Amino acid sequence: MISADRLVSEGVKQITPYIPGKPIEELEKEYGIRGAIKMASNENPLGPSPKAIEAMKKCFSTLHRYPDANSLLLKKQLSIKLRIPQDCIIPSNGSNEILELVSKVFLRPGHEVIIPEPTFSLYAKFTQAMDGAPIRVPLKNFGIDLRAVLEKISPRTKIIFINNPNNPTGTIVKKKEFEEFLKNIPATIIIVLDEAYGEFAEEPDFPQGKNYLDAQHWIITLRTFSKVYGLAGLRIGYGLAPQELTQYLNKVRQPFNVNSLAQVAAIAALDDNDHIEKTIGIISDGKKYLYRQLDQLGVNYIPSQSNFIMIHLGKQCPRVYDFLLRMGVIVRPLTSFGFPEYIRLSIGTPEENARFIDTLKKALLNNQ
Ligand SMILES: Cc1ncc(COP(=O)(O)O)c(C=O)c1O
Repeated sequence: MISADRLVSEGVKQITPYIPGKPIEELEKEYGIRGAIKMASNENPLGPSPKAIEAMKKCFSTLHRYPDANSLLLKKQLSIKLRIPQDCIIPSNGSNEILELVSKVFLRPGHEVIIPEPTFSLYAKFTQAMDGAPIRVPLKNFGIDLRAVLEKISPRTKIIFINNPNNPTGTIVKKKEFEEFLKNIPATIIIVLDEAYGEFAEEPDFPQGKNYLDAQHWIITLRTFSKVYGLAGLRIGYGLAPQELTQYLNKVRQPFNVNSLAQVAAIAALDDNDHIEKTIGIISDGKKYLYRQLDQLGVNYIPSQSNFIMIHLGKQCPRVYDFLLRMGVIVRPLTSFGFPEYIRLSIGTPEENARFIDTLKKALLNNQ
């Protein structure tokens, strides 16, 4: 047998595996504790939309059938809600699937993909899977540096990723800067605007990707049902793009990419304004509470336009992270993102937020 190394491309070899948030069950088993809380994966602290749960129950008896291969009803609902043509919408198996489809359709070996980093790790992963070259552009003051991105454009540039709000910093690119930036983008480049956390952005100047479908540029926007709609476990999201692009993305996706439960749940969740408003409210209130508490503790953080906050713990970060874990509070360490002195805290229910603050206080006291 030859070594498996010789069977795969250099790009695939270079991929660093995705590190998910630690599951509650695993932590409880490891430390012999109970009642742990997870504030690590930016999920909805209120749970799934109740209307989505009801809709799924009605769907159980038809699960022997394949799902609608084109998610037509969902596309119709999205088209009404977003006021955009159905042909511009492509429902997906989590918004992650759109990232995969985009790289499959548009990337060839040697293409360059500009990625402002630290950010969501999957942009680099899917680029490397296609033997593309990730061109990493460091953030400036924790925000995306669009000027530095423009400087990296070369004749080989194929895609530019803009994560807005950016994970893990929670910062945003504003409408005016984005539109200035677009003026300098050659027509051969595709911009992927990842708005997984777009619903949480409170800044009125947030540029909504859905408004750029007939712009002079190729912009593909990602949205998800995993965050504000609370359906992360179902794996459902969608892409928005001019029809000239969605037709190609549709060619390479699996015919039944979105399962039946996800389709009916998403349709119901879209209409569940009560759940959407409660979620946005609880995140906004939780953020204010956490800012106040962190200010009192003298702990620095990056003001966030999302449902998570990046918190600076300095040199004691690994110790505090470990203390939180042992006390059953799971947060996200950011060493793999290149921020070893920070954690990312997903904003939770008021009780979860208070427990995080109490435990953090104990951890900080413990050091003295
Ligand atoms: C920036 C960003 N984009 C996309 C996703 C993936 O979302 P989905 O669950 O829709 O695949 C995440 C998930 O945490 C994310 O942080």
